[in-house]
Amino acid sequence: MGLVGAGFVGPHHVDAVRRLGYVDIVAVAGSTEASGRQKADALGARRGYGSYQALIDDPDVQVVHNATPNHLHYEVTSAALAKGKHVVSDKPLAMTADQSKTLVEEARRAGVVTAVTFNYRGNPLVQHARQAIAAGDIGTPRFLHGYYIQDWLLNETDYSWRLDPDKGGASSALGDIGSHWCDLAQHISGLRITHVLGDITTVIKKRKKPTAAREAFQAAGKGDAFELVDIKVEDLASVMLRFDNGAKGCFSVGQVCAGHKNDVVLEVCGSKSSLVWRQEDQNNLWFGHRDKANEVLQKDPSLLDPQVQRYAHLPGGHQEAWADAFSNLMRDIYGFIAEGKKPTDAHPPAFATFEDGYRANCVIEAILDSAKQGSTWTKVNY
Ligand SMILES: NC(=O)c1ccc[n+]([C@@H]2O[C@H](COP(=O)([O-])OP(=O)(O)OC[C@H]3O[C@@H](n4cnc5c(N)ncnc54)[C@H](O)[C@@H]3O)[C@@H](O)[C@H]2O)c1
Repeated sequence: MGLVGAGFVGPHHVDAVRRLGYVDIVAVAGSTEASGRQKADALGARRGYGSYQALIDDPDVQVVHNATPNHLHYEVTSAALAKGKHVVSDKPLAMTADQSKTLVEEARRAGVVTAVTFNYRGNPLVQHARQAIAAGDIGTPRFLHGYYIQDWLLNETDYSWRLDPDKGGASSALGDIGSHWCDLAQHISGLRITHVLGDITTVIKKRKKPTAAREAFQAAGKGDAFELVDIKVEDLASVMLRFDNGAKGCFSVGQVCAGHKNDVVLEVCGSKSSLVWRQEDQNNLWFGHRDKANEVLQKDPSLLDPQVQRYAHLPGGHQEAWADAFSNLMRDIYGFIAEGKKPTDAHPPAFATFEDGYRANCVIEAILDSAKQGSTWTKVNY
């Protein structure tokens, strides 16, 4: 494994892969020689590089992980594919659907394994819910709703590259966290979003951008120097949805919702029952019924669908969490590579492909288009 971009999420890629036990953490690339070396030392990688190309050129690196800010996703991933390396890209796959489509094509030509980290798929109860829906336990899904809300951009002093369209893309909240919610809803239900109607808002229109660099999610210090900048991307949005089986849905995203740290909620209401999964209470899955008492399934390997038991690693009552789900993703991806599978072979469920990454870009772009046209129903063009 070689990691490009060791900020917030990059080290979690390393931790998750290291847990597999059979992968050598070869190298880390930073934006300078010094940061590459320092981050490699901190993460226990053998080599540190000052450029992503040097890491990609290392013959010992077989799988390149791209955890750079969004604006570098396309060029780093494209360079890795050109060298015939497998790629695990963090989301979004690229800044635009066009770029993502090009990456899908480049990956196909390279014949390598490629994945995107829609990591909520790795939670054992998400996989259980998916099996339950596929088995018809809640009947036909009719209504999918929920939200993904956070508070880390609540204050005007909160700033990140995610708010700069040149670095983060045309969308902030929708691209960053709405993409997770849409992937989760489609993954759990097996449905595809066909039409969207979006209402998007920039609640904080001017922010104090620090003049010194900050890592993601780092709050401003007292007396930090700043410049006042106009914010063009949304920090709040609500979206209505139509799915390909006729089901309806809606979700909201926000980065300015006090008290909500990483609050992802998805409810699927079917023709027989409903189910709810909440990331901040991820070891419980709620089933709602009309003619009998509602139930809560506590994560316990012995109570999970046998096909998904392998996503749980601890007995009941021992909480599993975000990092465990992330590791499950890597287990599916690296297992696929280690078994010598071809990119066209069937993928294990927690493994989101570049095609999934491309589709996520298409949904977000359709929502932005809808909002631009005064919130009209807009078809998602895949
Ligand atoms: N899957 C998830 O749940 C999840 C969570 C957080 C972030 N992400 C995604 O991961 C990516 C990184 O986000 P983050 O929060 O870790 O950001 P971050 O700003 O904390 O980290 C990015 C790192 O990349 C480094 N970098 C910048 N230019 C580089 C270059 N040319 N070569 C090598 N390194 C370079 C920066 O120095 C920084 O350390 C984003 O695309 C984001 O959407 C995904």
